[in-house]
Amino acid sequence: MKVKRWCGSGVLAAIVVTSLSAHDIITTNLTYTRDISRIFTQRCGSCHSAASSIPLTTYEETRPWAVGIKEQVLSRTMPPWGAVKGFGNLAQDGGLSQEEIIIIAAWVIGGAPKGDPQLLAKPEPVRTGRTGPQSLRDGPTVTDQLVLSSALRVSGIRPIANKLVSSARITAALPDGKVEPLLWLYRYDPRNSHNFAFREQVNLPEGTVIRSSEPLSFVLQVATGSSPGR
Ligand code: HEC
Repeated sequence: MKVKRWCGSGVLAAIVVTSLSAHDIITTNLTYTRDISRIFTQRCGSCHSAASSIPLTTYEETRPWAVGIKEQVLSRTMPPWGAVKGFGNLAQDGGLSQEEIIIIAAWVIGGAPKGDPQLLAKPEPVRTGRTGPQSLRDGPTVTDQLVLSSALRVSGIRPIANKLVSSARITAALPDGKVEPLLWLYRYDPRNSHNFAFREQVNLPEGTVIRSSEPLSFVLQVATGSSPGR
């Protein structure tokens, strides 16, 4: 063959070695197609679509970002959710589950292999994580603080912000002295604005003081169909 005549076997061996060492050593059984593509379709696709500035819809698009992705998910920066876990009783945490975070990080650390193309996630409707289990409508608006003039069943909070909220804790001080944590906004970016639905309605009696630890406007949301009072 022509190639054989032009390059000696030593040159061929050198080429093979170079192209092998250019790849990472794969130390994980997790693969993009089987383990990662579904998480990304559901949790990242709404913002990182093929048309976005950082598309993450294929292996080829995703691979160059692997190390950045690991850092973003481990630091809980991506996906941006904007609230502290475990403060208040939110219906869902728009962030990734612990298991999803570990899978993504372990896949990247293990060399971010592609895997069997047959196992790739089919394109599917995006789960945005933006709506709660029940439909909510806007109730009273709070600017920094509000004293309830009548009882209210609150089912969610919709922040009204025009700039990044670095940290603001929203609490309800009940007349009996009890303080209910409602929502802790943390690095809430109004470009990704959404509401925060509670897992259960919070019953607040007349005279409850709802306040934010930082200057902030927000809407108290009530479940549609339920009367705002008792
Ligand atoms: C609600 C929208 C949204 C979702 C969902 C989202 N991202 Fe992002 N992502 C962004 C935006 C906006 C930026 C650009 C960051 C900026 O401008 O500061 C970004 C930037 C990034 C970057 C680049 C960060 C850098 O190094 O500058 C990575 C990597 C990333 N996202 C990964 C992910 C992953 C992985 C997911 C899913 C697990 C995800 N994102 C989900 C909106 C989103």
